[in-house]
Amino acid sequence: MSIIFDKAQNSFILQAKNSTYIIKILKDKYLSHIYWGGKISEPVVEYIGNSSPRSSFNACQDEEGKFSLDNRPVEYSAYGNTDLRMPAYQIQLENGTRITELSYESHEMIQGKPKLPGLPAVYTEEGGEADTLFITLTDKLIGLKVILSYTVFHEYDAVIRSAKLINDGNTNLKIFRALSMSVDFDRSDYDLMSLSGSWARERHVVRRPLVNGTQSVESRRGASGHSENPFIALLSKDATESQGDVYGFSLIYSGNFLASAEVDQYKTTRVAMGINPFDFGWLLEKDEEFQTPEVVMVYSGRGLGEMSRTYHKLYRNRLARGKYRNAPRPVVINNWEATYFDFNEEKLKATAKEASQLGMELLVLDDGWFGKRNSDNCSLGDWYVNREKLPGGLKSLAAAVNEYGMSFGLWFEPEMVSPDSDLYRAHPDWCLHVPDRHRSLGRNQLILDLSRQDVQEVIIERISGILSDANIVYVKWDMNRNMSEIGSGLLPPDRQIETAHRYILGLYQVMDAITEKFPYILFESCSGGGGRFDPGILYYMPQNWTSDDTDGVERLKIQYGTSIVYPSSVMTAHVSAVPNHQTGRITSMEFRGNVAMAGNFGYELDVTKMMEEEKQAVKEQIQVYREIRELVQYGDFYRLLSPFEGNVTAWMYVSEDKKEAAVFFYRVLTTPNDALFRFKLAGIKEDAGYTVNGSEAVISGEQLMNYGLNIPPELGWGDFRSKLYRLRAE
Ligand code: DGJ
Repeated sequence: MSIIFDKAQNSFILQAKNSTYIIKILKDKYLSHIYWGGKISEPVVEYIGNSSPRSSFNACQDEEGKFSLDNRPVEYSAYGNTDLRMPAYQIQLENGTRITELSYESHEMIQGKPKLPGLPAVYTEEGGEADTLFITLTDKLIGLKVILSYTVFHEYDAVIRSAKLINDGNTNLKIFRALSMSVDFDRSDYDLMSLSGSWARERHVVRRPLVNGTQSVESRRGASGHSENPFIALLSKDATESQGDVYGFSLIYSGNFLASAEVDQYKTTRVAMGINPFDFGWLLEKDEEFQTPEVVMVYSGRGLGEMSRTYHKLYRNRLARGKYRNAPRPVVINNWEATYFDFNEEKLKATAKEASQLGMELLVLDDGWFGKRNSDNCSLGDWYVNREKLPGGLKSLAAAVNEYGMSFGLWFEPEMVSPDSDLYRAHPDWCLHVPDRHRSLGRNQLILDLSRQDVQEVIIERISGILSDANIVYVKWDMNRNMSEIGSGLLPPDRQIETAHRYILGLYQVMDAITEKFPYILFESCSGGGGRFDPGILYYMPQNWTSDDTDGVERLKIQYGTSIVYPSSVMTAHVSAVPNHQTGRITSMEFRGNVAMAGNFGYELDVTKMMEEEKQAVKEQIQVYREIRELVQYGDFYRLLSPFEGNVTAWMYVSEDKKEAAVFFYRVLTTPNDALFRFKLAGIKEDAGYTVNGSEAVISGEQLMNYGLNIPPELGWGDFRSKLYRLRAE
């Protein structure tokens, strides 16, 4: 067991691979957070944790006036007692009171980790790989029970937390706030990192010093969103990629979220994370339970890179599921930027023929194959084939594509409905809406009300019908607008505020049903690019379209930022045409290829119109990618040079046995007569000798990591240059 209850110290001691987490029961009642950080194999708890008497402004829990929770680290903070910092949960009783007081009641430890009902979650495959601790807290006066859950994996420096609220009383409870966790740090000299951006500019790395007060990132969009990702980290001031303390927090949830860090008057920091309390509420009737999503908390004492690699491995192996979890992903040709809505059967067949000759493996038919959809203003919800474009239907198209030796994939946007659709005309109440209010359109569409079971069932039935009917082995599941006028036609008035969370629960039901029904299909999630790129979706779909921005230069930042939490096997990256459709920038095929190869590789351009020279380049690229595909998708990832800090970017992938590595170097703009430049590698074996791109010389790992590689002269002059170095141990 990696978790023990040390009776003498009244403490729970959780031992992860190289880190320790300690909780103490104070006064036989209050759960106090004692420690989270580098390994302490045999902690003497009495010597950990600090508190000193504060001003008389602090109200006290005890008669002697000495014990205030406001200056103690707390494990799951309440509202209404002496802790005046941000509460983790808040509840209102029928009599109007909002005060609760939780006391420790009992605990249980088990091997493994149970599923979270209705929610995506990290899982175990073998009993012995992780242990879970449940601590039950109760407020006897009102019959509220809260069960805190902590899972510790032996092989990862991760503690996974969630909370379950149970109404054991006799009256209804109204939940105002139910965050998944809160944790208190006894200092505030950290930087806060978030992944922030917008459509076409997702997950840029933002690092800022913590200051007094509350700093937070959140989503109020109904989805995790383009603008903030459900992730934050605290970094010690000296933290870099390879050194320093880093504490990561990643929420397995796809809807509105809050991630906050509050620095209080005593310079302590409370980090809290979970479903955004903004516009959230939940009526908890007698005997009902409310389960929060889980937060994966990762500690690294060796910098940001180590934190990322922990998330990568955990999410790749114990969050993603199914046939494709550890299987190499196909090289895709997607017709979107090549044709947009303007395609027909001949065009697609010609594309498949050409693409297969170039070595591509799977054709994805994107938006526009259904209803009467020739632009984005109609037909979402009408999931029947457009016979004008595809007279033979999907079955014969898929068969024709298969004849060329390619697999076939299809785009859907199952959660949406166009006002101009048969579905909407028949069921205008099936979308999110508020009676008598205008229904605002986003990309000319409304959102189906997935909180309703009847709507969930219809979506499952219609999508399943199409998927069963043709040889479809890949689905791109898109979602192209955020919520407005949030309300459901079926929920009673006092539950309307539950709509946004119920939508996400409904979405998970639908995704669960469809992905279970079609286990042989590779599902890729998309939301106008990376607008719902979160761990919740990853549980159902093992890859995600990273961004609608396919410009090589922009992608450096997007993919670098994404890699802070998410593994390469999750990121889809395509080479598209130039001038680029999002930026107008012209970069070489080589540059675009080297950028896109740092993920699940593919193309999104008109292969039927390519020049011979380009075709040759593409063939070679695909050949190289096939050789390094498993290294990229499943190797250990090291960031070497950040696009946020300068004109050059580099990252590398190292195989588990460290015998092989692929290093990508990119220079955006050229500078005449530039300074000498070299960069150091990481993650390989110091005492092994490596050849670089088949060199005769064998260079030690020590040299490659301490001196590095010089930028080769053949990089030449000109903007947008890149190079791939392949290392092999002799
Ligand atoms: C947004 C996606 O991100 C694009 O790749 C494409 O699938 C369009 N939607 C289609 O409408």
